[in-house]
Amino acid sequence: MKSAVEAIELIPSAKRLIRSLRDVGYDFSAAVADIVDNSIEWGATSIDINVEYRGRNSWVRVADNGKGMSEDQLVEAMRFGSERAYSEDALGKFGLGLKTASLSQCSFVAVASRNDAKNKIEGFCWDLDHIAHVDKWEILKLTDKKMQTIVFEPLIKNKSTGTVVFWWKLDRFLEYKHSHSVAASTRILNMDRELEEHLAMVFHRFLSGYVQGREKVKISLNGNPIEPWDPFVRKEKTVPLEPRRLTIEYEGATGNILAEPYILPSQQEFSSMDAFNKAGGPTGWNQQQGFYIYRANRLIQSGGWCKLRTQDEHTKLARIALSFSPTLDDAFKLNVSKMQVQLPSSEREYFDSMVKEVVKIARERYDRKERKSFRSSDASSRSSKKDMPISESRVSSVVNTAQQTWTLDELEKEVLAMAKAYQKPMLRKIFERIREKFGMTNE
Ligand SMILES: Nc1ncnc2c1ncn2[C@@H]1O[C@H](COP(=O)(O)OP(=O)(O)O)[C@@H](O)[C@H]1O
Ligand SMILES: [Mg+2]
Repeated sequence: MKSAVEAIELIPSAKRLIRSLRDVGYDFSAAVADIVDNSIEWGATSIDINVEYRGRNSWVRVADNGKGMSEDQLVEAMRFGSERAYSEDALGKFGLGLKTASLSQCSFVAVASRNDAKNKIEGFCWDLDHIAHVDKWEILKLTDKKMQTIVFEPLIKNKSTGTVVFWWKLDRFLEYKHSHSVAASTRILNMDRELEEHLAMVFHRFLSGYVQGREKVKISLNGNPIEPWDPFVRKEKTVPLEPRRLTIEYEGATGNILAEPYILPSQQEFSSMDAFNKAGGPTGWNQQQGFYIYRANRLIQSGGWCKLRTQDEHTKLARIALSFSPTLDDAFKLNVSKMQVQLPSSEREYFDSMVKEVVKIARERYDRKERKSFRSSDASSRSSKKDMPISESRVSSVVNTAQQTWTLDELEKEVLAMAKAYQKPMLRKIFERIREKFGMTNE
């Protein structure tokens, strides 16, 4: 006789598990970015972030003018692992971000929302002090008037639909006894700057209106609008290389990857020193070379070669935009905090050879400009021949332009780097003919 299966439901201890969920790897900027993800995903065109530093009463508030939620939807949204269907271009993933990102920074998170301007605003919160007390997965309705005033304020002001996420009891954030001490003020300034740089980078496609079918998104931090930071500084003399597309299959899911390599200008080619320094980005030129990996237009990884090679001063002009569709999340091993991905292992060889090609061109641009700046500063003291960076034999195949002296090889490389793929064979032939005509050898 078949025995009935005995099943015992084991509900995890709320106070223990919720504490461990706080440590899934967010830092402050990444946590705020995950809240902003939700706002963008749910149709916001304007997102206002406020960070108030008041010692133990500090708070962070992210308010959007998106579609908002009904009371039932809001309650579901507060659940760890909330239920929903994910579309092709969904920024969300696990039904966790709102809760885990918030609790990684604070022990009290309130969310208020309305999906119709005529509706009453409702708010609920997760309060870890309450959870520690009752040891249940319980959210509380936001009834405290003082708290309501501050949480509901943006929705009342804009008189439309939207959502507010409010962090308080920021125990992971600032632990200074004296909120006006020099140490606290310095840290605060740095955190604001880091947050601004991070959002400017992560959401640059949304901020600049690059995303098809979407209105430009405005994000402000403490009332100041955040400007997009373009990793490829396309307003300067950046050279885009031929984009490559591939379709891959991973455990039954098919998705597209688009790789767009760029060779950035070297320092001397920038329009100003300020523009050059800005292009260095949050972690500086060396660290910012490499892949910029986008999932549904949101930047997940900025810089680094995904273990294909190390970052090197000579290759710092190479940056590659890599966009993948969320159907490939598993192939890219996307983690919960959306701070890390890995290249799909089946494509590593493909990417390795692509990176080698790109890095070679970047290196040539870097070396060429190094030589040129040396040569032009050297021009007035040509008598000290021993310092000349080019050999006598190369001088014999020199072409003069208005400002600079180029070897024919350099000119050819420059022209080829600017040319489209279909133009390159023709250009190579022309350079061959020039060499033949003037009896130059191609070294
Ligand atoms: N700003 C927002 N506007 C509207 N709905 C939101 C907003 N933030 C969160 N939600 C709702 O809450 C749910 C849970 O969010 P989250 O925990 O970040 O998980 P995920 O984004 O992976 O679905 C979302 O699926 C969405 O339905
Ligand atoms: Mg989310």
